[in-house]
Amino acid sequence: MTETTSIIIFGASGDLTHRKLLPALFNLFRKKRIPGKFQILGFATRAWDDDQFRLEMEAAATKFCSYDYSYDEWLEFSQHLYYLSGNFTNRDDFQALAARLENLEDGPADRMFYLATAPRFFLPIVQTLGQLGLVHDRERKRRVVVEKPIGTDLASAQALNQGLNQVLQEEQIFRIDHYLGKESVQNLLVFRFANAIFEPIWNRNYIDHVQITVAEEVGVGHRAGYYDSVGVLRDMFQNHILQLVALVAMEPPANFDADAIRDEKLKVLRSIRPITPDKVASVSVRGQYRGYCEYPGVAPRSQTETFAALRLNIDNWRWQDVPFYLRSGKKLAEKCTEIAIQFKCPPIRMFPLPKDFEMTANILGMCIQPDEGIHLKFEAKVPDTAAETRSVDMEFHYRDSFGETSIPEAYERLCLDALQGDATLFTRAGAAELSWKYIDPILAAWKSPDGPPLTSYEPGSWGPEEAHDLLAKDHRWWIRTCGENNGQIIDPVYN
Ligand code: BG6
Repeated sequence: MTETTSIIIFGASGDLTHRKLLPALFNLFRKKRIPGKFQILGFATRAWDDDQFRLEMEAAATKFCSYDYSYDEWLEFSQHLYYLSGNFTNRDDFQALAARLENLEDGPADRMFYLATAPRFFLPIVQTLGQLGLVHDRERKRRVVVEKPIGTDLASAQALNQGLNQVLQEEQIFRIDHYLGKESVQNLLVFRFANAIFEPIWNRNYIDHVQITVAEEVGVGHRAGYYDSVGVLRDMFQNHILQLVALVAMEPPANFDADAIRDEKLKVLRSIRPITPDKVASVSVRGQYRGYCEYPGVAPRSQTETFAALRLNIDNWRWQDVPFYLRSGKKLAEKCTEIAIQFKCPPIRMFPLPKDFEMTANILGMCIQPDEGIHLKFEAKVPDTAAETRSVDMEFHYRDSFGETSIPEAYERLCLDALQGDATLFTRAGAAELSWKYIDPILAAWKSPDGPPLTSYEPGSWGPEEAHDLLAKDHRWWIRTCGENNGQIIDPVYN
């Protein structure tokens, strides 16, 4: 990194800056990972000045920093915070921004522009930055971080990407998917490719199916207005969940290089079997929690889904006939994100089983959050019996092996990588578009009168019963390997 760096946050008075960016940047500063001379310039419409911005950010730090810090550390960090009030579509305000930057930098500097605004401003901001020459410099780095969502469908994602690419080189663009910054998500690659024992069985010969659950306990909260126009398929599946699918399913990359990894992920997204309109009803479930429509900001007869479950297939040599079952929703029983790999049962039954009992398969559970870790479920002989077997759980927990405070916030890693120009954990244009290509037909079928109905579910449950049926018709059930059930296989809908 060069000695001077400017971080310019568009939308600096917003929620994301308060909750995520400020705590992440402050912790990077504490860890001495931002170079000596740097400034963070907030830009937003609210009429604050530097002092007010610093006070606001101090309150945000108190509320949202999950680590301990001293007031002296905060004071030192806050000296790097500046603010300029301006409009995202006003060229004069951008000229004022340019002047302020030059004044603060006092010489050549790298710049990272972070778009933490409403999506409709992404393109106008980048275009004005381009017109004023603020994102082009032969000597210094000019990077732009774009928050999600990348469009609301394939056409809008393509339009956004084309617009961005007219101003910026693809290497300058860092599209955030904060799931990729999670330590336990990064560990998926390490788990698969830094160990020799898993990869030989990571395929259709040994794996029966894969499940990915991203469950949230919270409802839509203060984001009801936004969420009601989006729904869980756009909010969670198009980005986070499909990225998890890609990491689980990808081939080993040639090396640990950003493009090598992203090429392999792209190949997975390309191999996902498209869902034709006539199949949508049999492979998808959409639900809405009871009481959602009474929430302020939600349309009284909203048809927006707050839960979805899908069966996805990947048409390639490794994964043919291995279904991936995906589910996500708000107001569910527990917050948890986990990936369960269910292996095939042994080919013969050697040990006696009680009547009506089926053989149990080995399950590998990768707990992404909140209790980050890995579980391997296998059969063991029950002591003092002739040959009775029972499933036991071999566990790894981050907190036990690396300490309670070992896991940084996803945004910390992502901000640092963007500052350093490492794009490994960021989404390329093509990946975002391929994801929409898969999602769009499902959304279209859900809108059509012949599409599957919107089902409802109780807040605090595991979603609609139809989600259970989606697996039951394939003689499978949803699995929890982490959390309270700690290794027990249960079908939460009925247990
Ligand atoms: C965001 C979604 O991308 O991810 C939110 O817009 C969701 O609706 C959030 O709550 C979940 O993130 P995490 O890190 O808490 O699992």
